[in-house]
Amino acid sequence: MRYRWTITLILFIVTGAVLINACKKTGAPVHQARPVDFVVPDGFPDPVYRFENNPLTEEGFALGRKLFYDGRLSKDNNFPCASCHQQFAAFATFDHPLSHGFNNQFTKRNAPGLFNMAWLKEMHWDGGINHIEVQPLAPITAPNEMAEDIGNIIAKLEQDGTYREMFRQAFGDEEITSQRMLLALTQFVASLVSADSKYDRVKKGLAVFNVSEQEGYRIFQAKCASCHTEPLFTDLSFRNTGLELNTYLMDYGRMEITNNPADSLKFKVPSLRNVALTGPYGHDGRFTGLSQAINHYAEGVAPSATLDPALTNGIPLDDVETFYLREFLFTLTDSSFIGNKRFAAPE
Ligand code: HEC
Ligand code: HEC
Repeated sequence: MRYRWTITLILFIVTGAVLINACKKTGAPVHQARPVDFVVPDGFPDPVYRFENNPLTEEGFALGRKLFYDGRLSKDNNFPCASCHQQFAAFATFDHPLSHGFNNQFTKRNAPGLFNMAWLKEMHWDGGINHIEVQPLAPITAPNEMAEDIGNIIAKLEQDGTYREMFRQAFGDEEITSQRMLLALTQFVASLVSADSKYDRVKKGLAVFNVSEQEGYRIFQAKCASCHTEPLFTDLSFRNTGLELNTYLMDYGRMEITNNPADSLKFKVPSLRNVALTGPYGHDGRFTGLSQAINHYAEGVAPSATLDPALTNGIPLDDVETFYLREFLFTLTDSSFIGNKRFAAPE
């Protein structure tokens, strides 16, 4: 009897030692983070970001969400990501042509809504950011946004026991590094999927368009979908839609990244999902309302060397068509997305 117990005890100790060693070697967490499935909505293409080197977990997501809502990522602790990306506005800045950041300075561009980011190859209006994992470095270090440096942020977070514990739960130990911070933020931002609007439910046969929405959809497919392509409502390209140069901001868009004059005044085609919530519109927020943004195509297209060939003569639209288009665009509002507690500020 005693002999059996001794063997069991020895086995127990040996297994324990092997396990502890294995953990040390791989840096694997003693506490295993719980994996989360990233679900690609029906009809969506394969995402660009696949969490391959950043396994999506409950703990990583929770850490990313806390960071997204935390002012300590900015110099004066007042400008978290969420100050410019508000959930009720589909993570755009509500009612602001430009957002304000540190010292109340304005950003140069209108803050886009944040959803379906995992499908973007290039981010920002000019495509200047080509990887979601490094994107946060741009707002964090920009003097007119969060104006902070990574070293200071890490020092601030290290003083907070809750963060040390959350980093441990997400990554296996308490070490707080810029890389881990960026990976966690990416888990949150890339998880912001919006695919449950009335439009989506109509596509699944769970709802029907009314007559105006249906007519708007028909016009949309004929006149708009070549650039605002379903199901993302963007073809991810850069185009000049004939918006005159804003002589105060002097923003030449894509050309500022490529230095190629052929890219002058080209901006990323924005998704029109949740567009009813993300106004004002355009890269500099020059259009207050949706009707103005639509009317631009009929009445405001300015000629220039790089104007999109599809818009040489604008897009003729009468008032009734504009009305129908608006009715259709309203069906792209995803109330379950903006009401999703999972994406809201942590308690
Ligand atoms: C001061 C306001 C402000 C803050 C704070 C801010 N952003 Fe932004 N965000 C913007 C603006 C403006 C843009 C568009 C930038 C451009 O096109 O040059 C943008 C663009 C983005 C994009 C790309 C969207 C797209 O469609 O291309 C992502 C992703 C993003 N922000 C995430 C974040 C994260 C994460 C944080 C916090 C680390 C953050 N932002 C903090 C204003 C802000
Ligand atoms: C040739 C490509 C193209 C076509 C066709 C097109 N758009 Fe756009 N759309 C764009 C681009 C590019 C932008 C961003 C322009 C900018 O701010 O510089 C944009 C912006 C918008 C915006 C503002 C969105 C926001 O978040 O700021 C709305 C609304 C819009 N388009 C609706 C439409 C409608 C409705 C049609 C059809 C009548 C249409 N578009 C046709 C390329 C296109």
